[in-house]
Amino acid sequence: MPERSPKRDLLSLADVADELPALLEHATRLKAERAGGRARATLPGRNLAMIFEKPSTRTRASFEVAIGDLGGHALYLSANDLQLGRGETISDTARVLSRYVDAITYRAFRHENMVELARSASVPVINALDDLEHPCQIVADLMTLRERWDGGFRGRRLAWIGDGNNVCHSLLLGAAAVGLDLAAAIPEDYRPRPELLSAARTLSDRTGATISLVADPREAARGADALYTDVWVSMGDESEKEARERAFRGYQINAELLGLARPEAFVLHDLPAHRGQEITDEVLDGPRSAAWDQAENRLHAQKAILETLLLPRSAQVSPRGSDPGPATPSRRRGGTERAAR
Ligand code: CP
Ligand code: NVA
Repeated sequence: MPERSPKRDLLSLADVADELPALLEHATRLKAERAGGRARATLPGRNLAMIFEKPSTRTRASFEVAIGDLGGHALYLSANDLQLGRGETISDTARVLSRYVDAITYRAFRHENMVELARSASVPVINALDDLEHPCQIVADLMTLRERWDGGFRGRRLAWIGDGNNVCHSLLLGAAAVGLDLAAAIPEDYRPRPELLSAARTLSDRTGATISLVADPREAARGADALYTDVWVSMGDESEKEARERAFRGYQINAELLGLARPEAFVLHDLPAHRGQEITDEVLDGPRSAAWDQAENRLHAQKAILETLLLPRSAQVSPRGSDPGPATPSRRRGGTERAAR
């Protein structure tokens, strides 16, 4: 019977802040092992439930491929098709799914529901995006930056251009945690939530990262080592579409804005993109776009996240520890719920 880790959730990037360097190195090693044909199935027999209240291409596909490559199995559960859609509580759903699976990823409209699911599940819950954060995205993004900067964040500056949204929140925490300077150009009415900003500033006190908010995208872009943007209208914000499109005019990453950054600077976008709004075709499809590597890195990052949450530390070190062997869910769990946190 494989040794199991205690339940750990990944609801916020802050949940892995202390171990981000190890997680990024882990993901990069998994990428190299896959490229070299040395990938290992470290999670045989493990099942991952994936609850989605909103659409997804990258997060869904990368988690599904990731658990499959690691020898496990994914169940895609559209919230509308679950009894959840007919009023079964999140808590009851979490308790039942915990009897079947080893971990749950959840894409939710409301962060409160994410917390509720995690509280009631006895298996790890992974935030696959909610209105507050998108932590798994930022693990892949930092991995992408790290591989282009040869491992180092110190002395680098990233410019965020656009909305102070879920991706921005997790990025603030992630940049602060790894010691990466971040200048965020965000219109006044769309600034990040104060509690996230303050959590990022607390983390940055430890690493020395400078986290600043500015109004002018040119100020953030000037001399930056990389630029990052996301959609102006996130899922769930559709009723504000017109106001947002007005407010974010001028916050587009285009050749002119990129021209202000360092000559070797590149551009990140978590995708999907609204071409012609937050980013031009020319930049997204151009030689300085890192968006496609970023999308690929979601796969490697998800594997590192799954191994980190589901394997004991001894089985994660390189070269990988002995094969944990096939898991037998009913025996592992002994037919009872493990203590919820
Ligand atoms: N970046 C991202 O999370 O994409 P999806 O919405 O397609 O999962
Ligand atoms: N901020 C975007 C990210 C999509 C991956 C949204 O929430 O829709």
